[in-house]
Amino acid sequence: MRFGLFDSGVGGFTVLKKVIELCPNSSFIYLADTARLPYGLKTTDEIMQIAEEISSWFSQQNIDAFLVACNTTNAIALDLLKKNLDVPVFDLIGSVASTIQESRVGVIATPSTVRTKAYTNAILKYKPKTFVIEQPCPEFVPMIEINNINSEDLANVAIGYLQPLLSQKIDTLILGCSHYPLITPLLTKILPPSVKLIDPAKALSLKLKLFMDSKMSDFSKKKFLVESKFYVTSDQKHFPLKAKHWLNVFPEVNLVSLHKQGCVS
Ligand code: DGL
Repeated sequence: MRFGLFDSGVGGFTVLKKVIELCPNSSFIYLADTARLPYGLKTTDEIMQIAEEISSWFSQQNIDAFLVACNTTNAIALDLLKKNLDVPVFDLIGSVASTIQESRVGVIATPSTVRTKAYTNAILKYKPKTFVIEQPCPEFVPMIEINNINSEDLANVAIGYLQPLLSQKIDTLILGCSHYPLITPLLTKILPPSVKLIDPAKALSLKLKLFMDSKMSDFSKKKFLVESKFYVTSDQKHFPLKAKHWLNVFPEVNLVSLHKQGCVS
């Protein structure tokens, strides 16, 4: 089986890692829309346009399932992605929302995700009495992308973001942006041990695994071996180094243009 996944940059690596752990025999197409990074400060219209272009590109790829490895697009454009793709679509927010058991939940995410209240709405659908507080973290993604993750600056920024959640006595913190698991060591240093950290990629990969297992006989009938591929919309030179750093692979990376007129790969 081959799945497609995308993110603005390296955030999707955290989803990819979790999925590969559970589904080691699958292959993938990873698209990083690096030319438009970060997504988290974009308007709803901009994200809808991006989702339109990304789904149009993926619909020309040979994939069996699609993973929305970006929470911002998940929060704003999930319906559009599902409408445009004719394979099963797995998302982070919907997958994790049904698994939440705790009663005071903090969510950290990009400003564009928080604006939609998608996490709050999804959690309340399953557990209406849950207290949910969402905190936008605009500075995380740009700092993570340049690998500025051990600096005092980032630590101070993180303390500032987490403080309002801690003063609300959260018992759980959802990493509502796929970049954030890359700074888990910093977050765990700041959070009291009583606060449980949740990476939605885990719930997504469990759902994907169930799907894969149920389709295994169909997939094994396809006798071809498909390879994994990485694509970016810019920064073709540096992306392999980022993959090396976070995934320990040094892939060939292809440059792609997603704009309607020039959907070339
Ligand atoms: N990693 C993505 C997310 O989960 C996008 C972050 C960004 O580009 O701002 O929201």
